[in-house]
Amino acid sequence: MNYKEAYEKLEKYGQLHVLKYYEELPEEKKDSLLNQVAELDFEILKYSKENTTNRKGTVSPLAAMQLPEIETNKEEYTRIGVEEIRKGKIAAVLLAGGMGTRLGSDHPKGMFDIGLTKPVYIFQRIIENMLDVVRQAGAWVYLFVMTSDKNHDMTVNFFEEKEYFGYNRDFVKFFIQDVVPASDFDGKVYMEEKWKIATSPNGNGGWFSSMNKCGLLDIVRKDGVEWINVFAVDNVLQRIADPCFVGATIANECVAGAKVVKKNSPDERVGALCLEDGRPSIVEYYELTDEMKKAKDADGNPAYDFGVILNYIFRTDKLVEIMDRQLPLHVVEKQIPYRDEDGRHIEPDVPNGYKYETLVLDMIHEVDTCLAYEVDREKEFAPIKNATGIDSVETARELCKKNGIAL
Ligand code: UTP
Repeated sequence: MNYKEAYEKLEKYGQLHVLKYYEELPEEKKDSLLNQVAELDFEILKYSKENTTNRKGTVSPLAAMQLPEIETNKEEYTRIGVEEIRKGKIAAVLLAGGMGTRLGSDHPKGMFDIGLTKPVYIFQRIIENMLDVVRQAGAWVYLFVMTSDKNHDMTVNFFEEKEYFGYNRDFVKFFIQDVVPASDFDGKVYMEEKWKIATSPNGNGGWFSSMNKCGLLDIVRKDGVEWINVFAVDNVLQRIADPCFVGATIANECVAGAKVVKKNSPDERVGALCLEDGRPSIVEYYELTDEMKKAKDADGNPAYDFGVILNYIFRTDKLVEIMDRQLPLHVVEKQIPYRDEDGRHIEPDVPNGYKYETLVLDMIHEVDTCLAYEVDREKEFAPIKNATGIDSVETARELCKKNGIAL
């Protein structure tokens, strides 16, 4: 992009301040800034916390396939799933581009060590769980790891250093998620340097289009991967490319599936799988009305009782179909370091602007059918979000011990 084109793009979005120091920049920094202007999406800046694209239509319950039913059909579902894995039809995507702010570590979350007598890293737990499936099916499963520009090198170096925890490195591919501009509360982008617009990772909803941009869909196409299991980094017990889950989704003719757990209480902070205007959707815990909390299903059980755990399977052709749709934007207040009017570096200690994210859970509303597939939370739900308390290292350790995992 040349200067004139950059000027026009920035003018269109009211961001001409980006070029304030352009004339005084060395040539290579000038190019770098123009490239950034070319690549970034400024359209999102018209949204604010009060004015987002988020919608909520009419919400109604979506019945989950529960443990007893799964148990009855376990053999058949597992057979179907194993067969698909053997044929190379299933790949996994690990979402590891998050900042892990709540855990308070400077490293990628997956590098966190939950061991007590020996090192047990979060990434290691994920690989060990995948190796179970590899052994069961007798075939390798692709693992695509999404990182962010902030943690990519550390993540890749860690896998290298640990020799992929015994996984076949040819089946592990890394890709970096896209960034979006970070702005002040009026939607004006901050400058991180005189030659660089401040950016932040675009949330976990952009994983598939980022995979595409990084060329990984070529592998998906070439190898005929038909299903992708996308999952969060922080649940150290989850089963990945789980044959029974895959088989159940296929056998029930759904184009997507979501692992869900029975909620601890109506107020538990997990989104519940539901229908919104007749299509699958997720209603966040803070969106549940009192009426919804009290609603009962046909058996007299709470109607919005199954929470998602960020472990979804999607049919690849559907992902391609929905890839270019704009997902709802979640606008989050954040502390954004920047250069002030006089070019001084400022590290704010209170939120001074917005970051803009899309979320993988919103992809569920874009597909026609989604199987809500219950998993036993004691066996498969040990998220590490916080350093202590709920969903913390301590609670995850307890659950690992209960499941016979030596720490
Ligand atoms: P969370 O919403 O828990 O965010 O991410 P986080 O960044 O890990 O942690 P906090 O909120 O800063 O404490 C859920 C999953 O989505 C991934 C995370 O790595 C995690 O697996 N994620 C999140 C991304 O891959 N990219 C993002 O931009 C955000």
